Amino acid sequence: MAVQEQARLVPTIPAEWYHAPDIYARERREIFAKEWLYAAHADDLKLPGDYVATEIAGYSIAIVVGKDGVRRAFHNICRHRGAPLFTGASGRIDSGAVACKYHGFTYGLDGEFHSAPYLKKEELDCAALRLQRVGLGELHGMLFVNLSPEAKPFDAARAELLGDVARAKYPFERYVHRARVERTGRFNWKAWVDGYQECYHCPTIHPIFNKDFNLREYKVANRDGFSIHSCERKAGSASPSGAHEGLWLWVYPNLGLPCYEPCYYTLQVNPLGPGETRLSYHFHFKEPLDAPATKEFLRFVEQVTDEDISICEAVQKNLESGAYAAGLLNAERENGVAYFHSRVRRALA
Ligand code: FES
Ligand SMILES: [Fe+2]
Repeated sequence: MAVQEQARLVPTIPAEWYHAPDIYARERREIFAKEWLYAAHADDLKLPGDYVATEIAGYSIAIVVGKDGVRRAFHNICRHRGAPLFTGASGRIDSGAVACKYHGFTYGLDGEFHSAPYLKKEELDCAALRLQRVGLGELHGMLFVNLSPEAKPFDAARAELLGDVARAKYPFERYVHRARVERTGRFNWKAWVDGYQECYHCPTIHPIFNKDFNLREYKVANRDGFSIHSCERKAGSASPSGAHEGLWLWVYPNLGLPCYEPCYYTLQVNPLGPGETRLSYHFHFKEPLDAPATKEFLRFVEQVTDEDISICEAVQKNLESGAYAAGLLNAERENGVAYFHSRVRRALA
């Protein structure tokens, strides 16, 4: 029977999309250069001169606090000949201006062009030399950027997400940014998102979930540009993720946002190329800090991550083999993956 005719099984995106360089180039243009992308947390950007420099799908971005206390995002690219201006993952500039290390063009922290060696400012079109602005949006201290000059403002583009998060009443303000973990793996970024968007694999890959959750009841509700995951806990569960129901979100295209009782974390799924992905976790723990519970929670996430990386790397190899054209999704248990694929298909159409 043809794949399309099986009512309970629906086709995935083609296997080729998980490794072809031209597809990756299109995703950078059509998804990563157009969507709101999680970039940083406001905890790193409190005082004038604070900055964060990050790279998302190969786009180099800086978020900077100006002398006026306003946060702005820019392409981290000197207008002269393209050198990066803000170096390291984060830092603070006390002088009020950033000088390019290549030839010394200097810019204010608001992105205005200040000076260039051996050139008279009066003779230059300073407006054309301003740093290129990038859109910036915020959700409870989580900062999102958008590279498209045509992008809708964050609050309008993500109105449904903002509304649902507000209704969930998760107390983000009680949590403090305490730990970061970075991992890289040899798999396409979508292979990771696919796994994040379902718990069909939980009984087999993550025995730890079996213990505490009634996985038969795992549900994914797809909304406008995000999905809400939920699952009933077993009675008497002593999971390191705490006792309450939690709020587990995935935000298109590449952010996991699980909010548990002891901790919430952002999981940025950041493509480094068609077959390599960096996972950046930023953990925010509830105050006052419970040190043993914190350690236990980090260990729990590390174990689940190890399990997911190893299956994603094995799957990636087969997707690249040429022996497999496309897969099948269980329409009921993998509806989150189907939704993600529908968004990718639409973006690349
Ligand atoms: S590239 Fe920045 S000053 Fe030349
Ligand atoms: Fe998993």
